Amino acid sequence: MSSAAGQHLLSIGDLDADSLAQLLETAEAFCEVEQRSVKKVPALKGKVVASLFFEESTRTRLSFETAAKRLSADVLSLAVASSSVKKGESLRDTVETIEAMGIDAVVIRHRSAGAPHQVARWVDRARVINAGDGSHEHPTQALIDLFTVRQVLAERAGVPSQGSGLDLLKGRRVVIVGDVRHSRVARSEILAYNLAGASVAICSPGTLLPDEVAEWPVEVLSDLDSALGDAQIVSVLRMQEERGSGSYVPSLHEFTATYGLTDRRAALLGPETIITHPGPMVRGVEISSSVADDPRCVVRRQVTSGVPVRMAALYLALSTPEESPGA
Ligand code: CP
Repeated sequence: MSSAAGQHLLSIGDLDADSLAQLLETAEAFCEVEQRSVKKVPALKGKVVASLFFEESTRTRLSFETAAKRLSADVLSLAVASSSVKKGESLRDTVETIEAMGIDAVVIRHRSAGAPHQVARWVDRARVINAGDGSHEHPTQALIDLFTVRQVLAERAGVPSQGSGLDLLKGRRVVIVGDVRHSRVARSEILAYNLAGASVAICSPGTLLPDEVAEWPVEVLSDLDSALGDAQIVSVLRMQEERGSGSYVPSLHEFTATYGLTDRRAALLGPETIITHPGPMVRGVEISSSVADDPRCVVRRQVTSGVPVRMAALYLALSTPEESPGA
């Protein structure tokens, strides 16, 4: 069995099915910490986690920092806007400066695809976790999405999710909808769901498909109404205005009419369909406000899952294979 222990977490592509299952199982074990009156365990006491967000974030940054604190790590949070980055300090010098203070892990979000991989080459001993790099990958978001879906499926089946590995995800039909071109979540989800044995389709306007889509392990669909027919999990992606998504469609109104998860389309889905969205949602564009609040939409639950999943990511990255759960 391979293990995520002691490794950087840069891409879902670096995992195999065993290490994916190990991350989900470890996150499940950490859910119990949330139920305690003192929500803390000493697992990373004495370790230092640096949080470097060069791009905006609400849930990823806060949940990583919460996760590190729940594990009793110390957190160094770089406020990029008031840091020496603004005086022209390079990413490499910034990382090497922070590592010189004695850190154990770097959680990095950056607008440039591949920045976390670069950082992993520059650090001496710290472990690097990718919190989203450009349009490339967002591995912990994909882990959160699979973790949440697995929990919902386990509850419905009346079985514990803990110990179920990837079984509940195997053979499921996943449809990923919207701006795939700019979505790091889509890239990580496609890899993760495939690793779990699910079948993945993407449904998007042709202009919002990436050039390399033919090489991906997905079915490519263009008609959303029919794509939703057999979907068990619908992953809705945000239209990324900050990356120019709007210029790839005639208008946002037309995108919504053709590819939005509107009330009419949600009525085509079965009562058991699980709707995910990584957030932030743009209500009224890729998802209607009432669908966002529909009980089938698990967006709030995904946010809740963020803390134990990121506890697992940090804990395993800073463990040795011998001390990690399930080793
Ligand atoms: N899903 C996600 O990455 O959200 P944030 O940009 O708020 O971190």
